[in-house]
Amino acid sequence: NNHEPAVVWLTGLSGSGKSTIANIVESKLHTLGVRTYLLDGDNVRHGLNSNLGFSAADREENIRRVGEVAKLFADSGMIVLASFISPFRKDRALVRGIHQQAGLPFIEIFIDTPLSVCEQRDSKQLYAKARRGEIKDFTGISSPYEVPTEAEIHLNNGPSPQEQAQIVLDYLELHGILEK
Ligand code: ADX
Repeated sequence: NNHEPAVVWLTGLSGSGKSTIANIVESKLHTLGVRTYLLDGDNVRHGLNSNLGFSAADREENIRRVGEVAKLFADSGMIVLASFISPFRKDRALVRGIHQQAGLPFIEIFIDTPLSVCEQRDSKQLYAKARRGEIKDFTGISSPYEVPTEAEIHLNNGPSPQEQAQIVLDYLELHGILEK
């Protein structure tokens, strides 16, 4: 490949925009000829992790497995975009450690969209269900989200998804990931 491998890890509440930003970044990377793979709940929780729910223990295992899969793809030379709520600091630290040990760049991105905005969007109608008690352990409502303290990129809610994606692309370029 004419680029470095990396794992770009997007963390934030449900509805914060993780997948939207990851998709824009991925399609821009494709136009640059970069090989990518996108991991998110949609392609992982229905297959590899279909036996896991949303208890703290199941989320820990979800993130551990996804971290290992991300490492394998990065080891093959790809840029991996991983989009998971990953609400617990210790789970994100574990994934960071897996990549550090393997000498693979790990870039944590905090999609810092306030709960009130995510809840207002409620694109999957899950917040309403969580408020009614129909879904338990829902992040932000009945399960905690631990704000990142060591994220490489902190994306606030102001800019458009396109602008947020561009910040990520600029970071990759500035840190020599996109050139070899
Ligand atoms: S994580 O916490 O283990 O990282 P993950 O990113 O895989 O979560 O999955 C989150 C998605 O699952 C949400 O965007 C939402 O669509 C769905 N979901 C279903 N139940 C829950 C819940 N209790 N808490 C959070 N998300 C849930």
